[in-house]
Amino acid sequence: MIPDRDAILKALEQVIDPELKRPVTDLDMVRDVTVRPDGGVAVTIALTVVGCPLRHSFEEQVDRALGGLPGVTSVTLSFDVMSPEEKAALSTRLRGGRTEREISLEPTPRVVAIASGKGGVGKSSLTVNIAAALDSLGQRVGLLDADVYGHSLPLMLGVHQRPVVVDKMIVPPVRGDLKLISIGNFLDDNSPVMWRGPMLHRALEQFLSDVHWGELDTLVVDMPPGTGDIAISLGQLLPRAEVLLVTTPQPAAQQVAIRAALMAQKTGTRVIGVVENMSWLVGTGQEIFGSGGGAALAAELDVPLLGQVPLDPILRESADAGDPVVESHPDSESARAIVAIAERVAALRPGTIRKSLTLLS
Ligand SMILES: Nc1ncnc2c1ncn2[C@@H]1O[C@H](COP(=O)(O)OP(=O)(O)OP(=O)(O)O)[C@@H](O)[C@H]1O
Ligand SMILES: [Mg+2]
Repeated sequence: MIPDRDAILKALEQVIDPELKRPVTDLDMVRDVTVRPDGGVAVTIALTVVGCPLRHSFEEQVDRALGGLPGVTSVTLSFDVMSPEEKAALSTRLRGGRTEREISLEPTPRVVAIASGKGGVGKSSLTVNIAAALDSLGQRVGLLDADVYGHSLPLMLGVHQRPVVVDKMIVPPVRGDLKLISIGNFLDDNSPVMWRGPMLHRALEQFLSDVHWGELDTLVVDMPPGTGDIAISLGQLLPRAEVLLVTTPQPAAQQVAIRAALMAQKTGTRVIGVVENMSWLVGTGQEIFGSGGGAALAAELDVPLLGQVPLDPILRESADAGDPVVESHPDSESARAIVAIAERVAALRPGTIRKSLTLLS
């Protein structure tokens, strides 16, 4: 029995491009299907770039989709690369009629920016873990590393592949279902980014307009420390962003965090809650950085304290290994605290948040 060509094409609809998250048949990536009389099927898929690191995903999926079809005795998959014209057509299709300079976040997801006044309080660690936790809650999540000078998300997530550029559209690298854009993925080595404000603004704008985010429920943004150019740009580009303020329990850190809250208010974004990080040391409960900073900050801003995360060596080790602790050690004290925070963030719908921070006005 010779396998049915239409059935093969139909089955290929199950093969999803791991980065673009759409069937290869929708994306016009199936270049050739040959069916031999002995039941051997040869498929050629045209990729956006040569040496795409996700080839094995296509191989597995094609095998799975075609292997069980009646009459199929073997499946071989080969790859080709799209021509510039095909890439331009794909980019137009992905853009869905939008012009290049329009923000590509449609339909509009929630934007949650993780910010602090002080550096080193755990913003990036919380960003990757909250994103991973929201993903495990079933949300479609994107991660934007807005810390252009101090980018750390690629390391913390172990995502080192370069973003694929299709025509002028940037396809974010993925880690499972999480999509990530960081300047770190565009750089060859550890060279420093030395840009002034306008370039930072342009980079952030490009991350929002030229990146094919697809449909997202939440975009989690890792902010740089402090109240500089990036915070102003984010406020301008994403005025509906919700801000999660991170502080340590120290009164000094809490005072600095208030500046970030004032800044958020000035740029029109809204603080939705406070997370206290490094609250105590796991195991001993020792309060290394004092206590009460998170609660005091939340009270002062009249927003909820969404949770306290302990200092946990496993959290740091997991981040250094490129694995969020909520995935690598879901039963650890820090992972459980962060998952609970992500659940609270997911439950806080924008409409339920008070619009004015009376104390600051
Ligand atoms: N709860 C925690 N337990 C243990 N280590 C932590 C915890 N939170 C953060 N760290 C570690 O502290 C360091 C600083 O954290 P992180 O990079 O997330 O902070 P940040 O606020 O993003 O810093 P920056 O302002 O430089 O961007 C990292 O080495 C991280 O692994
Ligand atoms: Mg950081």
